[in-house]
Amino acid sequence: SIEQTLSIIKPNAVKKNLIGIIETRLVQAKLNIVAMKMVQLTRAQAEGFYAEHQGKPFFERLVGFMTSGPIVVQVLEGDNAVTHYREIMGATDPEKALAGTLRYDFADNVTENAVHGSDSTESAQREIAYFFADSEVFAKK
Ligand code: CMP
Repeated sequence: SIEQTLSIIKPNAVKKNLIGIIETRLVQAKLNIVAMKMVQLTRAQAEGFYAEHQGKPFFERLVGFMTSGPIVVQVLEGDNAVTHYREIMGATDPEKALAGTLRYDFADNVTENAVHGSDSTESAQREIAYFFADSEVFAKK
């Protein structure tokens, strides 16, 4: 079924001028970009977005990284978009990611892993609403 998912191009990928190549791969995979913005998160915004990871050993490093520079936040729409985008991203840890995935090609390490994608349709709803008003999402569905 047609789903939406939240995608983030993280600070390391933006710094390395990888926005264009990542967008090309999304479009080739028939994940349509229906909302996008470039923002630099405040500490409070990053902590809120990753609230489920509060208390984990990597949380401070994650928040520091995600606030370190601008990111591209977008909504992708397509058939089975949540799972499909996770397949294209590859495993969270780039050392475990399959060749040809975004993280295999562009991640620097498990924290600076180039991209984020929602892990379920429920997370996608919450994450999309965290960044976008309904009027900013130009969905076909
Ligand atoms: P992301 O998909 O954005 O969701 C949580 C993020 O925490 C993850 O990508 C990584 O950037 C970061 N992270 C760092 N270390 C770990 C870890 N050991 N397990 C999961 N996520 C981690």
